[in-house]
Amino acid sequence: MTEITRDVVIVGAGAAGLTAANELRKAGLSVAVLEARDRVGGRLWTDVIDGAMLELGGQWVSPDQDALIETVADLGLETFSRYREGESVYVGPDGVAHRFTGEMFPVSADTERTIAEITERLDAMVAEIDPDRPWAHEKAAEWDAVSWDAWLRAQTDDDEAVRNLAFATGSAMLTKPTHSFSLLASLLMAASAGSYSHLVDADFILDKRVVGGLQQVPLLLAERLGDDVFLGQPVRTLEWDASTSSATGGGVTAVADGMTVRARHAILALAPVLYPRISFVPPLPRLQHQMHQHLSMGFVIKVHAVYETPFWRDKGLSGTAFSPYELSHEAYDNSNHGDERGTLVGFVSDRTADDLFRLSAEERKERILESLSHYYGEEAKSPVVYYESDWGTEEWTRGAYAASFDIGGLARYGEYLREPVGPIHFACSDIAGPGYQHVDGAIRMGRHAASEILTTRSETAESEPGA
Ligand code: FDA
Repeated sequence: MTEITRDVVIVGAGAAGLTAANELRKAGLSVAVLEARDRVGGRLWTDVIDGAMLELGGQWVSPDQDALIETVADLGLETFSRYREGESVYVGPDGVAHRFTGEMFPVSADTERTIAEITERLDAMVAEIDPDRPWAHEKAAEWDAVSWDAWLRAQTDDDEAVRNLAFATGSAMLTKPTHSFSLLASLLMAASAGSYSHLVDADFILDKRVVGGLQQVPLLLAERLGDDVFLGQPVRTLEWDASTSSATGGGVTAVADGMTVRARHAILALAPVLYPRISFVPPLPRLQHQMHQHLSMGFVIKVHAVYETPFWRDKGLSGTAFSPYELSHEAYDNSNHGDERGTLVGFVSDRTADDLFRLSAEERKERILESLSHYYGEEAKSPVVYYESDWGTEEWTRGAYAASFDIGGLARYGEYLREPVGPIHFACSDIAGPGYQHVDGAIRMGRHAASEILTTRSETAESEPGA
């Protein structure tokens, strides 16, 4: 068992943990990053499957994601735009593929008016929400007590309008059934991207990708840290000195499978649903014990289908496709930069994903490709490479895309999520305000945890010269 001593031990080598470690190193502190997996990146994972480069986890960058855009530029990475020329496809309740351009689905005039009116109402509510403090809104408790589905159904009895409005934060973002999270959680999701309209604008939210894959962000951040990143080191126990405050820092000892790190501060840079996997000695306070039980991961299958050519482009299709009635509720042209082959990416969310995993792999593939063929035609059924990213089976993630509160949890506990506990600080996309559940939020939270430590250390140094 190796034993080392550092100023800060960081648990988790995702975008959040690696950002925090780099910030602390720049400020002159020594760090050790302990990562459970045998790779860095966490939910960012660019891999080659059967000869095709696939983004198994996060990939898109939107224009509001300043922290991610800055990091991408700082690391010297290039971006490219998602292919979006041509018409999009919408499959309505009639089961027919309708082509359209612009943001509004081709629905009846009445449904279109209803969607527009409710979107306007939502944008006005979102504008009142501070994504860093949604719990501080005067109606937070009220909005957190009603499910997203119930609120939408109280606005209109137009089922097609409800389904289309619901899926922007439901299947497409929080990836949970819309009765299982609150209106406030939905407003936070929208506020974190600037507005509800932004969320439903695929050209905005799924704007750019990184040439060569987004996992290069954590890979290059880890490269800068050199030998201070330790792979295959799941932290099992975190001993901490409960008598110390976050300001003074104090003894923390992280015990992983092959090593022990003693430090003054710890940053937990992992999905909050995984905190209880660590034995805290002494146990975390009551509030954390309770709060962490009200967070859970959403679940979505990310499906990759690679074809000899992007055949849909020849049909005048952009590849962008939506339907709240389809197994794959959204799908896009996800061809790699400079690649002659065409790649489609589709998503199957929450209960539909559960149902599919009750089938055999062959049946599942058949059902998913059938759904894609409803958007793009028969050719979609014959990819040369097919792969399903299943983050639900990943021990060190346990779902996708991220964690969110159950109904009532955000108003009740949200304000305590980022609050340090003694020398323990928290950083993850799942506790972010702007960039919530996205890489941008992970980077922001990494910076935030690092600056908390740096600020408290400089305050301590001022009050205790020589400390
Ligand atoms: P992350 O989970 O990445 O990192 C935590 C790390 O901690 C992991 O490496 C884990 O192994 C490690 N760990 C856990 N327990 C440990 C322990 N006990 N000891 C040591 N290490 C431990 N975002 C976006 O901006 N654009 C997008 O297009 C998408 N799309 C998308 C698709 C899919 C399929 C997924 C799964 C996710 C996305 N996302 C996304 C979300 C984005 O990927 C995610 O928000 C961030 O990568 C999370 O980064 P963090 O560092 O916060 O956590």
